[in-house]
Amino acid sequence: MNELIHKLANNHSLSLEEYEALISQRDEQSSRLLRELAVKTRREIYGTDIYVRGLIEISNICKNDCIYCGIRRSNTNCERYRLTPEEIIACSDEGYDLGFRTFVLQGGEDNFFTDEILGGIIREIKARHSECAITLSLGERSRESYAFLRDCGADRYLLRHETADKTHYEKLHPSEMSFDNRMKCLQELRELGYQVGCGFMVGSPFQTAKNLAEDLKFIETFKPEMCGIGPFIPHKDTPFKDYQAGTVELTCYLLSIIRLIYPPVLLPATTALGTINPIGREMGILAGANVVMPNLSPVNVRKKYELYDNKICTGEESAQCKDCLNNRMRKIGYEIVTARGDIIR
Ligand code: 5AD
Ligand code: FES
Repeated sequence: MNELIHKLANNHSLSLEEYEALISQRDEQSSRLLRELAVKTRREIYGTDIYVRGLIEISNICKNDCIYCGIRRSNTNCERYRLTPEEIIACSDEGYDLGFRTFVLQGGEDNFFTDEILGGIIREIKARHSECAITLSLGERSRESYAFLRDCGADRYLLRHETADKTHYEKLHPSEMSFDNRMKCLQELRELGYQVGCGFMVGSPFQTAKNLAEDLKFIETFKPEMCGIGPFIPHKDTPFKDYQAGTVELTCYLLSIIRLIYPPVLLPATTALGTINPIGREMGILAGANVVMPNLSPVNVRKKYELYDNKICTGEESAQCKDCLNNRMRKIGYEIVTARGDIIR
């Protein structure tokens, strides 16, 4: 294992079989070594800086029906909401005053948000806060739409690939959703000049060590600017309600590996990680993550954007979330910085 880990740290590449072995034969010792090398690697590029992204959850209305997700269209128990363009812009103003220089507009695939409406919102935020980056996380759209939104000023796009294994993808999604289209979207976003984020859930139903090895191989070849990974957490109103949640341990192990595969990658310690363990996000940072994403959504809608059970930060005001994370990072020897936080390579 030690040999494998040093090989990864030096070459930033392993074979599929080696990634699988790294996962299935992991123990405390391999985990410690990976963590140390990941932290050292990150420190050489980013020091102890942690980037923040202000997350604005613009709508929980979704035409998709991903089986794991609490806002899937079949969930009739979900109280739906949609922010108005004015509310979204107000969130970005509030975030700007709190020091945020990246805004992530995230939402379900809601047909209300046409190119025209989204384009107007992006232009307005950019007009008010020209030095800020805008990240979109709005699912699958056409190439033309991605191109238009990029022209309007969007800088980055997050679209988790969810799993790099087509057969596994089909177990997590209804038949009308397509693995090939998802991968095509990621390629198009890259071609259009977005900084692109992919990602997956750890411990999702039916996931094997081989599937995770495929995710790592995909990351090694695609070299995403960002990579969002967090534990799967069951949601009570989905068909996966009785499946087990992923673990902090495996999520952190994979964060360390991803840092070593692509040293400059922007790697968030996700809300899901903070949900399964009160210090999950801190553990993520200490395993090699370098981004946190506090919630900027209006407090009255936060509980409704429930992708999984018991999501944290649903009662706090934006300023409270920001202060809370500032303190948490300082406690473990890191510093939240107010910069756009582009990838350094
Ligand atoms: N547990 C953890 N993560 C989830 N997501 C959706 N549902 C869940 C869940 N039950 C993740 C998906 C999606 C992102 C916005 O949230 O990976 O891409
Ligand atoms: Fe939101 Fe701590 S980060 S309350």
